[in-house]
Amino acid sequence: MPPLVLYKIPFIGHTFSYLFDCKEFLKQCRKEYGDIFSLYIWGQVKTFVGKEHAHEVLARDDAFDFGIVAVRKLPIDAMFVNGFGDSRYNIMAVKEYISKKLELYTERMQESLHLSIQRYIGKCEEPKVHDHLYKFLSKVIAAPIANIFIGESEEIITTFAEFTSSLFIFYAIPPVLDFVYPGLQDYVNRIPVRLGLYDPSARQRSMLIKHIKNQVDKRLREKQEYQDSWKRPNDLLQDFIEEKLFDPNKPNYNAIADKMAFFIFASIHTTSRASTYVLIDLASRPEYIQELYEEQLEIHKETDKNGILPIEAFNKMNKLDSFVKESLRLNENIAGLSHLTLKDYTFSNGLQIPKDHIF
Ligand code: HEM
Repeated sequence: MPPLVLYKIPFIGHTFSYLFDCKEFLKQCRKEYGDIFSLYIWGQVKTFVGKEHAHEVLARDDAFDFGIVAVRKLPIDAMFVNGFGDSRYNIMAVKEYISKKLELYTERMQESLHLSIQRYIGKCEEPKVHDHLYKFLSKVIAAPIANIFIGESEEIITTFAEFTSSLFIFYAIPPVLDFVYPGLQDYVNRIPVRLGLYDPSARQRSMLIKHIKNQVDKRLREKQEYQDSWKRPNDLLQDFIEEKLFDPNKPNYNAIADKMAFFIFASIHTTSRASTYVLIDLASRPEYIQELYEEQLEIHKETDKNGILPIEAFNKMNKLDSFVKESLRLNENIAGLSHLTLKDYTFSNGLQIPKDHIF
């Protein structure tokens, strides 16, 4: 088993050091106990895996599950009848329905992003102030994501942009009740949602269901009407409609909305947060701006087709790629990226972790 770092205050364990001095505290623990060690936080023993072994956790999805822990704090089961789906299905869907089709989506995403920037920034003849960069970027990013998920409309873009932040309130509640019994805080957080007293994402969810119903009915009707001349919409919604379990005679709009909600949850917040970090890093390191700008000009000169770049052009943006990766490396909260062990696991350094343990 990984060594448990010594602590002085019973019950509280390492909670305060983790909460108020996380970076330095984890650095010190790693120095004294090695790359893998356990801490006693919020009434539970949690194991931390350092950079030498973290790749094992990320690569072995047969042994470690990210999804279960990531959504445990959210009362998803009380809000979404079908939960947030199964990790394996979600990973398959990202690969088959999104990653493999990126070539098909690149042009649309660029056009949509361009329109979105025009809408929210415009020509900027007069200076504009956006005092909440993350919220502003979520709106910009929601447009191309909505475009490839479900087709765009003003209403649905706003729903996409607001959906994740409406759920984040649950991440902000400190799990103090877990000191009494592990998991008690999550249980208590669900009570007002279950009783129908509080549901921060209710408006966005009903908007999503309404939009999905309109789209599904329209697509089924038009397919019937136009037969062979029907033009298949290319987006995630259409992929869901064409799955074996979908019954065109009795569409389950709520089930599709639940599936879609997971993808909105996984994509908008991560992309908006990463873009916010990158922009702040760029603004605070102006010495890189000219070099990155020149790389963009060069690639546009070589590959631009009527203002649209082919997918291969993105692979040539080496300097931008390094800048973004470095920003992600420095800013992402890797210690908070919890996983659950699905089976007993032995790390390459010989340390063993039992099933159902949280990382
Ligand atoms: C800059 C943007 C993004 C960042 C930084 C990011 C980061 C991550 C991280 C760290 C994980 C956990 C991996 C693991 O521990 O196994 C993850 C999982 C995942 N992400 Fe992303 N992501 C981003 C964008 C997206 C987008 C755009 C989508 C969907 C279109 C997406 C869908 C997923 C899915 C389906 C999973 C697996 C969830 C599960 O295990 O149930 N992500 N992402």
